[in-house]
Amino acid sequence: MGARRLPLLSAACALLALALVLAGDPYREDCRNKTYPPSGPTYKGNVPTYVINLDLPPYKRWVNVMNDKKTELKNVMKNIKTLVNEFFPGGKFSDFVEGKMVQLLSSLPHPFREEIEGIANTSGAVLGDVVLFNVFYEIFTVCTSVVAEDKTGKLYHARNLDFGLFLGWDIKNSSWTVTQQLKPLVVALEFQRNNKTLFRSANFAGYIGMLSGVRPGAFTLTMNERFSIDGGYLGILEWILGKRDGMWMGFLTRTVLENSTSYEEAKEKLAKTRLLAPAYFILGGNKSGQGCVITRSRAASLDIWDLDIKQGTWFLVETNYDRWKPPLFLDNRRDPAKKCLNQTKQENLSLSTIYDVLSTKPVLNKLTVCTTLMAVDGGHTETYLRECPEPCSPW
Ligand SMILES: *[C@@H]1O[C@H](CO)[C@@H](O)[C@H](O)[C@H]1NC(C)=O
Ligand SMILES: *[C@@H]1O[C@H](CO)[C@@H](O)[C@H](O)[C@H]1NC(C)=O
Ligand SMILES: *[C@@H]1O[C@H](CO)[C@@H](O)[C@H](O)[C@H]1NC(C)=O
Ligand SMILES: *[C@@H]1O[C@H](CO)[C@@H](O)[C@H](O)[C@H]1NC(C)=O
Ligand SMILES: *[C@@H]1O[C@H](CO)[C@@H](O)[C@H](O)[C@H]1NC(C)=O
Ligand SMILES: *[C@@H]1O[C@H](CO)[C@@H](O)[C@H](O)[C@H]1NC(C)=O
Ligand SMILES: *[C@@H]1O[C@H](CO)[C@@H](O)[C@H](O)[C@H]1NC(C)=O
Ligand SMILES: *[C@@H]1O[C@H](CO)[C@@H](O)[C@H](O)[C@H]1NC(C)=O
Repeated sequence: MGARRLPLLSAACALLALALVLAGDPYREDCRNKTYPPSGPTYKGNVPTYVINLDLPPYKRWVNVMNDKKTELKNVMKNIKTLVNEFFPGGKFSDFVEGKMVQLLSSLPHPFREEIEGIANTSGAVLGDVVLFNVFYEIFTVCTSVVAEDKTGKLYHARNLDFGLFLGWDIKNSSWTVTQQLKPLVVALEFQRNNKTLFRSANFAGYIGMLSGVRPGAFTLTMNERFSIDGGYLGILEWILGKRDGMWMGFLTRTVLENSTSYEEAKEKLAKTRLLAPAYFILGGNKSGQGCVITRSRAASLDIWDLDIKQGTWFLVETNYDRWKPPLFLDNRRDPAKKCLNQTKQENLSLSTIYDVLSTKPVLNKLTVCTTLMAVDGGHTETYLRECPEPCSPW
């Protein structure tokens, strides 16, 4: 590493925030056009594809992925531990977390526990670290998701995956160290049973939940973090303390992609299953009008926002705020995304125009790890690694 880093919520973040307030928002730009096919300084490459064979015992499923990505996984975990130790010096806290994580593992249901054990075994990473890596996304993911329908009734679903907020600001590079280190871990996955593809996803190697995925011909799904007082921290704490009546959101999305066969069934499961942490689920179906954003508290669905083509609602944009509330004034990615989709118009909607929207700052920002584009027809997915050169919003 060697780069100079600052731990967690640091002076640098506070200064950046202050600069944003004083300067208005210097990072806005006009809606981008013709950025697709991806090229230029905001594009950092494609990602490799792996088949995950669900007919194998869970312990063996991730061997190929982890053989290739073990070094990168260990690097990011090492960095996270260093950051935590800078914040809680002495190393006691991270030892404590590591120990708790191993205990936590024994309470995870099949097949998740076995898959995590297999990943630790293949990669040689510390078991507690692999568990932590799988818990992480319940807390630090800020994203933009779009589900939209074109004039012919075809559905598209896309997202920017923004990750690593407050996880080590690299002053020299002016980038988030964890965000940078996650890029080489991004993989496209094809989950098969009986040699048939059940679903595809874009993911981080070592993470067994699902952040974005498509079940060919049936539905598309992404999840975004929802900040709330009764947030992930509390649920995870309760889980550690033994109150285990909620499900990890990443494991719920995985279960839905693996075992739900229709849009309606997926919607029902995502709306009703008790969760550890609040979340937004963005779901697209396979016919006109099938698209929604489900706003979840831990216990219940607070709101289901559906596409409504007749009323002119042909797209839905979700970032990390309830749709009935204004976004945090420092972090308004929602209005720029909506503005650009409005400008695109339904007639011109396609994966390439959606890529334009997701390439416009600050929808694209320094936390953006990758962009995933999906179409339910044929279960099409494309994932591109991203970079946001200066001037660029830190989130
Ligand atoms: C800056 O980031 C690039 C990747 O974008 C990395 O290769 C390089 O090592 C980083 N530089 C420092 C000083 O960390
Ligand atoms: C993209 O096209 C729209 C509509 O034609 C235009 O308003 C906008 O300024 C263009 N953006 C850029 C960056 O050229
Ligand atoms: C991985 O599993 C194999 C067989 O189950 C076992 O022999 C080996 O010791 C394990 N390795 C690690 C690092 O846990
Ligand atoms: C999957 O295909 C391979 C050959 O491509 C075959 O050897 C294997 O038996 C098949 N597995 C199943 C479960 O059908
Ligand atoms: C999906 O269902 C199968 C069969 O009931 C089960 O073995 C598997 O564990 C389920 N998958 C998940 C991720 O829960
Ligand atoms: C949409 O999904 C349902 C449930 O999986 C399926 O029965 C139907 O054939 C699908 N329709 C299309 C057009 O793919
Ligand atoms: C987008 O267009 C809709 C309907 O024309 C309008 O209600 C909405 O305010 C527009 N949003 C933005 C951000 O321009
Ligand atoms: C759609 O895009 C084409 C060229 O890319 C442009 O000529 C046309 O005006 C656009 N249509 C709308 C409705 O914006």
